[in-house]
Amino acid sequence: MDMTVASSATEAFRNAYGTDPAGLWAAPGRVNLIGEHTDYNDGFVLPFALPQHVVAAAAPAGTPGWTVCSTLAEETVTFTTTEPGGVEGWAGYVAGIVWALRDAGFDVPPARLALASDVPLGSGLSSSAAVESAVLTALVELGGLELPLAERPALAQRAENVYVGAPTGIMDQSASIRCVEGRALFLDCRSLAVEQIPFDLAAAGLAILIVNSNAPHQHVDGEYGARRKSCEEAARILGVPALRDVTPDDLAAALEKLDDDVMRRRVRHIVTENQRVLDTVTLLRTGRIREIGPLMTASHASMRDDFEITVDQVDVAVEAALAAGAYGARMTGGGFGGCVLALIDADQAGKTTAAVEAAYEKRSFTAPTTWSATPGPGATRLS
Ligand code: GLA
Repeated sequence: MDMTVASSATEAFRNAYGTDPAGLWAAPGRVNLIGEHTDYNDGFVLPFALPQHVVAAAAPAGTPGWTVCSTLAEETVTFTTTEPGGVEGWAGYVAGIVWALRDAGFDVPPARLALASDVPLGSGLSSSAAVESAVLTALVELGGLELPLAERPALAQRAENVYVGAPTGIMDQSASIRCVEGRALFLDCRSLAVEQIPFDLAAAGLAILIVNSNAPHQHVDGEYGARRKSCEEAARILGVPALRDVTPDDLAAALEKLDDDVMRRRVRHIVTENQRVLDTVTLLRTGRIREIGPLMTASHASMRDDFEITVDQVDVAVEAALAAGAYGARMTGGGFGGCVLALIDADQAGKTTAAVEAAYEKRSFTAPTTWSATPGPGATRLS
């Protein structure tokens, strides 16, 4: 973990409030190895935590209400009431957590917070879930609130769904709160059961190269909501609680019941993607990491052709990485820009990066940013 983020949060706290914080809490961004848009269909996901994180420096306040500042914003925001939507912008994620805790019956202590982060913004790496998770962990500990770890992601998701108004699933908050170093988090988004799956890339001589396409996010909210609506409508027509309940064996019969070609393709993505997560987990349980490559690449094709959530920049990054010898590559996150993951031999990071950069230059795309990621820890107290 890069401790400069922790130092920045401490410094911001001292500058804003003229005293030392009572503690520092960190929560990571995430990438999803496989299982995209399956979470709100009660399906399966397999994220792991990034080394980049949000740090919340926090202390109880002597006056009512909550005050928060951030190294990424000019203004310091204070709120004393927490009706959904009352605070907008970045501080809304903080107010949303206070609201969700109070709505669940907790007596949240008045507090002062200062945030710092090195999770890239708007890149599909869950920078907002990292803010929510860091603030939630800080407030739970400051207030001595009895909220078991397993129940925290759903509470943070409510902040995002109800307070901020984004119709997201439970993956990102689960990853930020429940991930464990060196593991990928296999989450059943219906039962919320988790299994920590060994994912020791270094021991296998492998690396996951993350390529941030730096493509501008466009129409993200509307398109995300439209995908979710289409999936829910399909489940209703098929007479199942969620698309999770359609198995690959049922798929052909299910598709016959749907008239709309777009909806049929959305369903096919979810059903096949859930199976790819299960197949990936089966391979990883016995350490067969290289063999997950084709599943990653098939996942990308499904997101591109059936779910239609990719853009040229991510498709080009996937193709260039594969042409340079990657075992598999796929977009990660909600889509319409964001990052690509490529599974490569550890000594091929330079070559793969050069191949993607050359492909971007040829098309006059903004240059990508790349780094190798290993699974880091979930939300934790630093000091
Ligand atoms: C975003 C959402 C998640 C999930 C992914 C797609 O990150 O916040 O809930 O739906 O997109 O897999």
